[in-house]
Amino acid sequence: MTDLSTTYLGLKLKNPLVASASPLTKQFDNIKRLEEAGVGAIVLHSLFEEELIAESIRLHEHLEEGTESFPEALTYFPELPQYGIGPEPYLKLIEAAKDSTSMPIIASLNAASPGKWADYARHIEESGADALELNVYTIPTDPLVTSSQVEEELSEIVKDVCEAVEIPVAVKLSPFYSSIPFVAKTVTEAGAEGITIFNRFYQPDLDIKTMDVVPRLELSTPQELLLRLRWAAIISPRIKADIAITGGVHKGEDIAKCILAGAKVAMVASALLKNGISHASVMLEEFRRFLEEKGLKSAEEIRGHLSQRAVANPKAFERANYVKLISSY
Ligand SMILES: Cc1cc2nc3c(=O)[nH]c(=O)nc-3n(C[C@H](O)[C@H](O)[C@H](O)COP(=O)(O)O)c2cc1C
Repeated sequence: MTDLSTTYLGLKLKNPLVASASPLTKQFDNIKRLEEAGVGAIVLHSLFEEELIAESIRLHEHLEEGTESFPEALTYFPELPQYGIGPEPYLKLIEAAKDSTSMPIIASLNAASPGKWADYARHIEESGADALELNVYTIPTDPLVTSSQVEEELSEIVKDVCEAVEIPVAVKLSPFYSSIPFVAKTVTEAGAEGITIFNRFYQPDLDIKTMDVVPRLELSTPQELLLRLRWAAIISPRIKADIAITGGVHKGEDIAKCILAGAKVAMVASALLKNGISHASVMLEEFRRFLEEKGLKSAEEIRGHLSQRAVANPKAFERANYVKLISSY
């Protein structure tokens, strides 16, 4: 039998397919079903900075005997209950998932600015999470804020959280940094043991009939994997953190590509939201078949086989190949 097992953030996983943070990992029943479908681990949906701020505003108001001391701040977060659950139910979900499953449970914090992340990370650790994924999601809009400042802030958040907990921390990065390898190195030096590439941003559209901005959240397409494969292939031999790929993983062959590029795990959300949770077992079966057809005994045998340092033509990942390609089109 082909051995699919791997390690990720020092945790032992029976295979490299991880259910990434999504509405599917928000409900206890689905978490059980994801384990039955065979995933190696799950990342719970995120606890959002806005939820935590709103919670502390409510607490403050309660202490202030109900006076709405921050009315503007409260109306700033009107839609919170639609996605998230507050910190208490979140911690209970971690406990319940740990009690009734045997796969690693990775919690997720979604931050935008330095704050009390260390405290929440500690609560998450105490609730039994095996690891924490930190998703730092900011949209810099101020022309006076430099890229170095954005990166320093990221590093500060990562350092605070990593110093506060003993469980391993992975950082979910955006693809929009000027130098992905530098940022990966910086967060690793700040204490992260894993880098999750990449965050997918919701893209607002413009409605030309209503002349308004419309929020859009679309599921991913398999093409999105290519960006991740390139960067996993480039950074995996250069930094010591484990790489997780998230974005565009839809089939068993995509898991194989992630591992070939040097990732430890392949994460999936859209394909399960689209095809149902049982699609995870289909993907795993396809991955197993691929390894068998290649005559391989374990998934580990192919890890990093097509990383930039391992391939015969490392320039395939760089600009030189681009020039060659467009001139031959
Ligand atoms: C509806 C929806 C909700 C999501 N919620 C979260 C979240 O709470 N935290 C997070 O870090 N990522 C969240 N994501 C991003 C996914 O975890 C994943 O990184 C992204 O969708 C790319 O993977 P995919 O191509 O398999 O969908 C969400 C994605 C979707 C589609």
